[in-house]
Amino acid sequence: MAEKKLEGAGLRGQVAGHTALSTVGKAGKGLTYRGYAIEELAEKATFEEVAYMLLYGHLPNQSEYDEYSAKLKSYRRLPDELKEVLQRVPKSTHPMDVLRTGSSMLGNLEPEGDFSNQNETADRILAAMPSIITYWYRFSHQGETIETETDHPTMGGQFLSLLTGETGAIGTLRGPLHGGANEAAMETIEKFSSREEANQGIKKMLANKEKIMGFGHAVYSNEDPRNKIVKAWAKKLGELSGDSLLYEVSEEVETVMTEEKDLFANTDFYMASAYHYLGIPTPIFTPLFVIGRTSGWTANVMEQRADNRIIRPSEEYTGPDKSEWVDMADR
Ligand code: COA
Repeated sequence: MAEKKLEGAGLRGQVAGHTALSTVGKAGKGLTYRGYAIEELAEKATFEEVAYMLLYGHLPNQSEYDEYSAKLKSYRRLPDELKEVLQRVPKSTHPMDVLRTGSSMLGNLEPEGDFSNQNETADRILAAMPSIITYWYRFSHQGETIETETDHPTMGGQFLSLLTGETGAIGTLRGPLHGGANEAAMETIEKFSSREEANQGIKKMLANKEKIMGFGHAVYSNEDPRNKIVKAWAKKLGELSGDSLLYEVSEEVETVMTEEKDLFANTDFYMASAYHYLGIPTPIFTPLFVIGRTSGWTANVMEQRADNRIIRPSEEYTGPDKSEWVDMADR
């Protein structure tokens, strides 16, 4: 039977609800969070400000901001039972699986109950994520039991200092800059030790029909609006580190991909070098992306709960009209 092409296969382009939180790939709108352009948020807002705006509906004034930052700080503590579990998770575990186990255990220890305290739950999850991943990382990789309740005023500062054991001078990433396929992008980029090598290497990979991680996007068709923000940070961090090779190699890969495939870099691509320059080990890239995303995910959950319907898409049936039963002996 000729295969029928389905409109919206994989649920692409299907509308399954309403959101006031963000626009992704909407023509003429770019990427906005509650109507604010991400370019403006990345330049002017702290992570905590954006999280508050997503979760509470408006940008905080100074006293709301101070109160919110203090609240997130007070939620950095991990229960002893959770620490015990994290101590038992093997060093070889992927940090994404550690986050899953850690947040699941936290949910067992501090069950949400009904939805009446959902903002508190969201804030607790948000603040606990950096503690979970850094506690496990430092214990499993360095044999140290760290104190996650630190005095750092920001989540970014706390995360970096707990992870690397020092206070990063470039401490806080401002704005909503978070990644995903960036780990795989890093593996590609770090193979090359010059622009020339990158140029030849990527062309060879393309000739072998390999996919280059960090390019293309399922929703954005011409560009990923986050890319230029992350790219500028990668450049700046490379300069600050005094070794821009990784950034330069990344730029070369981007040029080849535009010329050869007309494909644009997505946000993950330059996140690889930016995160690396911040001293973040490659396996922690995706958990860092998750930590940032938690603010948006929990805001989405609250929005869906406000208009609660089970999301139950259908499929178009393409099988036989009627199948005749044949006894086993006659098959
Ligand atoms: N490298 C090389 N070729 C790529 C590519 C990439 N990163 N992304 C897409 N292509 C090619 C595909 O091979 C395909 O070519 P074909 O038509 O000759 O088969 C064409 O472009 C369309 O690709 P398709 O996978 O159908 O696009 P999509 O819109 O369904 O996929 C992604 C979107 C993100 C899944 C895809 O671009 C991808 O796998 N990118 C790499 C992973 C990545 O960076 N993910 C993070 C996204 S934020």
